[in-house]
Amino acid sequence: MESNFNLNGKIALITGSAGGIGWATAKTLARYGASVILNDIKSKEILEERKQEIKRDFNCEADALQFDVGDFEAVQNAYNEIFKKYKRLDILVNNAGSLFDNLVGMIRKKDIEQTFSTNTNGVIYNLQSAARLMERNKSGSIINIASIVGRVGNEGQVVYGGSKAAVIGITLSAARELASKNIRVNAIAPGFINTDLIKFLSPTIFNQRLNAVKMKRIGQPEDVANAVLFLASDLSSYITGQILGVDGGMIM
Ligand code: NAI
Repeated sequence: MESNFNLNGKIALITGSAGGIGWATAKTLARYGASVILNDIKSKEILEERKQEIKRDFNCEADALQFDVGDFEAVQNAYNEIFKKYKRLDILVNNAGSLFDNLVGMIRKKDIEQTFSTNTNGVIYNLQSAARLMERNKSGSIINIASIVGRVGNEGQVVYGGSKAAVIGITLSAARELASKNIRVNAIAPGFINTDLIKFLSPTIFNQRLNAVKMKRIGQPEDVANAVLFLASDLSSYITGQILGVDGGMIM
């Protein structure tokens, strides 16, 4: 059986790919031969620049679709465009996410709604539309970026942790439902990764989190991107419904 990291001919959508992990993932998948579709809620200019960079550096097809993953109609429109142009989708990386930290007593309704809209609803909307496209080819790999906080919780992260625990439940249920269609669904639970998402942390919290990493270093976006590559490729063709920690041993 031939199976390797080669993603030639595969079409991959990476949500939130103007950010740290999404951008590293888009470049990694392109490096291994995929055509990548970038997405973010951020400005069209950033996405356009990144698209050109990918095309130039990896000599591959690339597209940029600006939309809010938590906007049901916008997601459907995006997949209509993908279908029109490519007629297929092989890899979906549900990566877009926003972080909201607050103690229980301080949580506001709008923070719950916004966090769940992106981190949870967005995952379901994209998974649903992607599965419809993947079903046509009886093949696909969906990788949901959850979080260590969705597995073990954290003080001040009731909202974020809840939104990410939901991603794990979504992954397990979708994996069961879609396995017979040869669509694999896995999640990655990153630990403490060096991106803009954590740049607001106070030095005290930063050091606390770093001390919890058994490997004694902060993770890099590429550490997560390499795990995505494995789950996207045929090397993982018999793996579904798994939650892969990329956390330097924060939880074991
Ligand atoms: P980041 O902030 O660098 O990137 C997130 C990207 O998602 C941003 O570019 C942002 O504009 C985009 N985004 C936010 N809301 C969106 C929406 N509604 N629609 C489309 N795009 C949207 O953060 P990072 O670290 O690269 O995060 C990527 C994923 O990894 C997130 O789901 C995050 O929760 C998860 N994660 C990150 C960890 C870390 O330590 N950095 C740890 C555990 C999980």
